[in-house]
Amino acid sequence: MTEPRRRALVVFETIFGNTRQIAEAIAAGLAAHFEVTLAEASANPSPEGMSLIVVGGPIHAFGMSRPTTRENAEAQAEKLGIKDVHTGAGVREWLERLPPATGQVDAATFDTAVKVGWFVIGSAARGEASLLSARGYTMTGRPQHFFVKDMDGPLMPGELERARAWGQGVAELTA
Ligand SMILES: Cc1cc2nc3c(=O)[nH]c(=O)nc-3n(C[C@H](O)[C@H](O)[C@H](O)COP(=O)(O)O)c2cc1C
Repeated sequence: MTEPRRRALVVFETIFGNTRQIAEAIAAGLAAHFEVTLAEASANPSPEGMSLIVVGGPIHAFGMSRPTTRENAEAQAEKLGIKDVHTGAGVREWLERLPPATGQVDAATFDTAVKVGWFVIGSAARGEASLLSARGYTMTGRPQHFFVKDMDGPLMPGELERARAWGQGVAELTA
């Protein structure tokens, strides 16, 4: 009899849709080793039964988004005439409500950022990782940035392929 596949949850937050695309690519990379559930943080997905949790959102004002930065994003989107924006609860709120890990549950984090020259301004992935560690999840690998060109995207060339490969790497480390 074959063992049931281990389960992974990818939780993401997005305003303009770029982090959703990265999360989808990561989920595809994980899928060789895990049965994957992909969900937006605002849908409040359950972590129950998961062996691996991957969390990611956009960097806002040097860290994870907050209600005020999401309002700011919404205002900027309105000014630019961008229609399809999502401003529900983010990964910070989901992580703050996350129950402690029961047993060994691996976790990995990512964010999306605008690279200015060689620099990344801030990190959401580090904040996500510290909330997960504080709740007893076992961090795998280092928090990872993926890059967009401007505030509303698009993704920089090659980022979807890099995200898929990163997801596969995380899966191989933990499966
Ligand atoms: C209010 C606001 C603050 C931001 N602050 C930062 C920042 O500090 N560092 C950074 O690299 N990008 C920053 N950005 C750019 C976001 O990282 C970018 O909008 C995001 O990666 C796009 O992802 P999304 O399409 O999933 O929303 C900011 C964007 C907004 C709207």
